[in-house]
Amino acid sequence: MTFQNKTAVVTGGASGVGLETAKLLVERGANVAVLDWSDQGGEAIAPLGEKAIFIKTDVSNEADTQSAVTKAIDTFGEVDILVNNAAVLAYSPVHETSLEDWNRVMGVNITGAFLMSKYCIQSMLRKGGGSIVHVGSAQSFMSQEKVAPYVASKTALLGLMRSIAVDYTPTIRCNTVCPSTIDTPMLHWAMEQSPDPQAIYDECVDMHLLERIAQPQEIAELILFLASDLAANITGQAIRSDGGIGIKIEGSKR
Ligand SMILES: NC(=O)c1ccc[n+]([C@@H]2O[C@H](COP(=O)([O-])OP(=O)(O)OC[C@H]3O[C@@H](n4cnc5c(N)ncnc54)[C@H](O)[C@@H]3O)[C@@H](O)[C@H]2O)c1
Repeated sequence: MTFQNKTAVVTGGASGVGLETAKLLVERGANVAVLDWSDQGGEAIAPLGEKAIFIKTDVSNEADTQSAVTKAIDTFGEVDILVNNAAVLAYSPVHETSLEDWNRVMGVNITGAFLMSKYCIQSMLRKGGGSIVHVGSAQSFMSQEKVAPYVASKTALLGLMRSIAVDYTPTIRCNTVCPSTIDTPMLHWAMEQSPDPQAIYDECVDMHLLERIAQPQEIAELILFLASDLAANITGQAIRSDGGIGIKIEGSKR
């Protein structure tokens, strides 16, 4: 799998899955624009050298996304690959969710993916081809308690993916990687919301058929596969890397 001379844009690339994705893309020859709203982004990608630039961006803000994509193109040329990975979590059921929290989660997780797709697709069309990979979740298909805004946003990503796949075929492919629990700062933030973080970690391990939690590199490898020409026959698909969660019938409801 080679990405020699390709221009890739990775959102949420200052940590976790996004950072691993940027690292692998650089290792395999791509030039990578890493977009994140974190001030730590520049420091995080410094080891990647000159083939990666950090652009401080709030993906939920249209002016930010437009100028970040312009800067990526000015630096590395038209965009070949977009990875819509940036996301935030909020824990609440609908009746306790503030409009502010709802808008924050939807703003980053789905509006951010729309805005980034909008400006990168314009570039991909000028270039004559491209590949977009959204990072969804097992929660694009199922829910757990008190995660309504996140589940709604991750489910909406699948609709955005299908629309892009249909509207821009055969020039641009669009797919979604759907992981379950991954060992990243997002998981550790979620664990810390509980009085017993280790119990949450153990519970996460137990709920997967494979009795393990994914490493961010494993998810990054799948993102790269879908972005690459090896996946030339795949578009509009949600591909799960989720430890087999949810495939086993656990018992009767009665
Ligand atoms: N960690 C998990 O267990 C898990 C499980 C399933 C899916 N996912 C998904 O994987 C993806 C990566 O998550 P992660 O675990 O690496 O999380 P993470 O928190 O380590 O990384 C997310 C990054 O997104 C950035 N970000 C947040 N809001 C932003 C904004 N408005 N603009 C730009 N950047 C912003 C953050 O600063 C952070 O660097 C996300 O889409 C997440 O929903 C994670």
